[in-house]
Amino acid sequence: MHHLLAEEKLCLDKLNRPLKALRISITDKCNRKCSYCLPENYALNRPFIKEDDYLSIPEITSIARSFVKLGVDKIRITGGEPLLRPGVVEIVEDLSATAGVRDLSLTTNGLLLKRFARSLKSAGLGRVTVGIDISVDYSNILTGLDEAKRVGFKNTKINVVIQRGLKQESLLKLTKYCRDNELILRFIEFMDAGNCNNWAPEEVISAESIIHWISYHFPLVASDSNYYGEVASRYKYKDGKGEIGIIASVTKPFCRDCTRARISADGKFYNCLFASSGFDLKKALHSGLEGEALEETLSSLWAGRIDRYSEERQLFRNSGIKLKKVEMFQIGG
Ligand code: GTP
Ligand code: 5AD
Ligand code: SF4
Repeated sequence: MHHLLAEEKLCLDKLNRPLKALRISITDKCNRKCSYCLPENYALNRPFIKEDDYLSIPEITSIARSFVKLGVDKIRITGGEPLLRPGVVEIVEDLSATAGVRDLSLTTNGLLLKRFARSLKSAGLGRVTVGIDISVDYSNILTGLDEAKRVGFKNTKINVVIQRGLKQESLLKLTKYCRDNELILRFIEFMDAGNCNNWAPEEVISAESIIHWISYHFPLVASDSNYYGEVASRYKYKDGKGEIGIIASVTKPFCRDCTRARISADGKFYNCLFASSGFDLKKALHSGLEGEALEETLSSLWAGRIDRYSEERQLFRNSGIKLKKVEMFQIGG
C-alpha cells in the first residue's frame, strides 16, 4: 500500500483526494476509428476542434506550470492521437523542461511511433503507452514499438480494451509478444465512456475472468501497486518474466483514489473522465487569468470536486438517468 506523506503540500477535493496527476489532451483527431472510442460512423459527421480553438503551446505550458505548483508531478499527454498535433515534440520539450514534472508520459495508438520515437525521446519524454486494438491487424504498430525500444524507451506499456467477442488466441499472442519484448501489458475493461460506443454491461469481460484466463496459460501472482492512485492492479508472472496490469473501472471502480485532473485540447478542465461539462480555461486565459489567480481558479475547481462516476454508475443506470458525457477521444482516457 502507498500512503501520502503527511507533510506533502496537497490540494484536496471534497472527498479528500489530492491533486497529483494531469492528463492533457492535445487533439481530438485520430487516425484510427476504434469501436470503443471513436466509431467510424460517428467520426464521419462530427465537427472536430478547429486549429484556432486549440490551447496554444504556451497556454499548455502555463496551465501545466500552475498545476505543478498545486502538487501535480505526473503529466500524461493524450488525444485523440497526440502525434497528429502539429508541435507535439515542442509540447513534450516544454513540459519536460518544467521543474517539478517527475513523470512525463504520452498515450498513443502507435501508428506514428516509428516516425516520432527518436524525437520524443530527445525532447525528454519519459515513457510511452501504446493502445492497441487487437480486433484489427496491428503489425505496423510493432515496428513503432521496436523503434521506441531502440531509442531507449523503457517500461513501455500496452493498453488493450477487452470487449466481449475478442478472440482468445489474439490475446494470447499479444501476451506472449509483450512478455518476450519487456512490454507491460494492461487489460482495460470496456467502459461506458462518452456517448457513442454502444456500451452495454453484457459487453464487459470482467477483470476477474481475464486474470483467470491469462493465469491458466501463464500463472500469475498479485503484486503491490507502484504508486498511490495507480489505476491498474498489477500481477507478475510466476516464472519471473514480466508483469501485466488490469484496469477494472467497471467491476472494481477506483474513484476513491482518483488524483487525476484532465484538460481537453480546446482547454476545458474536467474533474472526471465521465464529466458532462468542463470549465473553459482557454476563455479564462484569454480574459487575462494568469499566475496566482490561475492557480487559485484551478485549486478551487479541484476543491469543489465530488465526481466519482465509476462508483455511481449503477445508481445512474438504475434511475434511468442518461448523462451526456465528454467523449473518450476528447479527453484521452
Ligand atoms: P501510468 O502512469 O503508466 O500508471 O498510466 P495510467 O494507467 O494512469 O494511464 P493510461 O493512459 O495508460 O490509462 C489507462 C486507461 O485507464 C485509460 O485509457 C482509461 O481507459 C483508464 N483510466 C485512466 N484513468 C482513469 C480514470 O480516472 N477513471 C477511469 N474510469 N478510467 C481511467
Ligand atoms: N473503455 C475502456 N478504455 C478505453 N479506451 C478508449 N475507449 C475506451 C473504452 N470505451 C482506452 C484505449 C485507448 C485510451 C485512450 O483509452 O486503451 O488507448
Ligand atoms: Fe476518477 Fe471519474 Fe475515473 Fe472515478 S470515474 S476514477 S472519479 S476519472
